[in-house]
Amino acid sequence: MASTKNTAKTFKLNTGDAIPAIGLGTWQSKPDEVRTAVKDALQAGYRHIDTAAAYGNEKEVGEGIRDSGVPREQIWLTTKLDNPWHTRVPEAIDRSLSNLGTDYVDLYLMHWPASLNPDDTSKALEGWDFVDTWRELQKLVGSGKVKNIGVSNFAIKNLERLLNDPSCKVVPAANQIELHPCNPSPKLVAYCAEKGIHCSGYSPLGSSDSPLGKNESLKKIAEAKGKTVQQVLLLWGVQKGWSVLPKSVTKSRIEANYDLDGWSLTDEEMKQIDSIKERFKVCGDGWLPVQVFFGDDE
Ligand SMILES: NC(=O)c1ccc[n+]([C@@H]2O[C@H](COP(=O)([O-])OP(=O)(O)OC[C@H]3O[C@@H](n4cnc5c(N)ncnc54)[C@H](OP(=O)(O)O)[C@@H]3O)[C@@H](O)[C@H]2O)c1
Repeated sequence: MASTKNTAKTFKLNTGDAIPAIGLGTWQSKPDEVRTAVKDALQAGYRHIDTAAAYGNEKEVGEGIRDSGVPREQIWLTTKLDNPWHTRVPEAIDRSLSNLGTDYVDLYLMHWPASLNPDDTSKALEGWDFVDTWRELQKLVGSGKVKNIGVSNFAIKNLERLLNDPSCKVVPAANQIELHPCNPSPKLVAYCAEKGIHCSGYSPLGSSDSPLGKNESLKKIAEAKGKTVQQVLLLWGVQKGWSVLPKSVTKSRIEANYDLDGWSLTDEEMKQIDSIKERFKVCGDGWLPVQVFFGDDE
């Protein structure tokens, strides 16, 4: 197993493109920190950066990319359409590209299946929903501005509604969802696999103030392998078959989270992690005027 090069792993999307398995997350990374974090990550070897218009840091993410000296074409860059922009997709993508200082993104995601009123974001937009938004996103395919389009925070119910709509001509390349041992969403992951939709796992470490670092099963496995709990969590996700998006603004952690080569988790260790019973979810939908999660699996 010594030659296992986990950091070189990619997953093939339904478009034929290959998304790198490990990407740097940037939610809650402050603009003054994220520029350095992105540079440090790319210099440590990461080739995948995840941001969003809603994070308010696209400009600094773009600066970090340029600071790194890594050529743009070697980097997978994902950004996301913000909820109050669903009726203004052409303006939204141009704004993101301008902020990022790039001509294209590799993946453009509908951040949430929630179209909000731009004049009052506590309200849903009357007469418009995410199926309409997807129709707009589909128009970007072939524009050169986005290489792939996808969704995020889509539960099975909403994916079904999208895929069954006659206007849906492009199957999302990816669904970015919360995935860690306390929110493993096996039904949703299986549904996506069946439809050819790649899953990207967000909050893979359990997010800020994560309880996962203290989980006894994880600690036992990490100690036995001479690894950290965070490294075990990331490799668990990659071995489950999804890309992982660990966020950090701390150089030593950015590097440690990418130090995943030369080892793997055994079937038995994977099973032990799969059998963790505790459940929690980092991102709910209570802040949105529409229901997004339906409490069955995701
Ligand atoms: N699509 C969506 O709706 C959505 C929602 C949530 C997240 N995401 C994406 O997924 C990314 C990751 O999710 P997340 O930011 O919620 O959480 P996460 O990556 O699970 O955890 C981040 C937290 O863990 C800390 N951390 C990182 N590496 C560590 C290590 N080796 N040891 C100990 N602590 C460590 C970070 O601290 P420091 O930064 O201080 O080092 C930060 O507090 C986001 O940044 C974003 O790109 C997407």
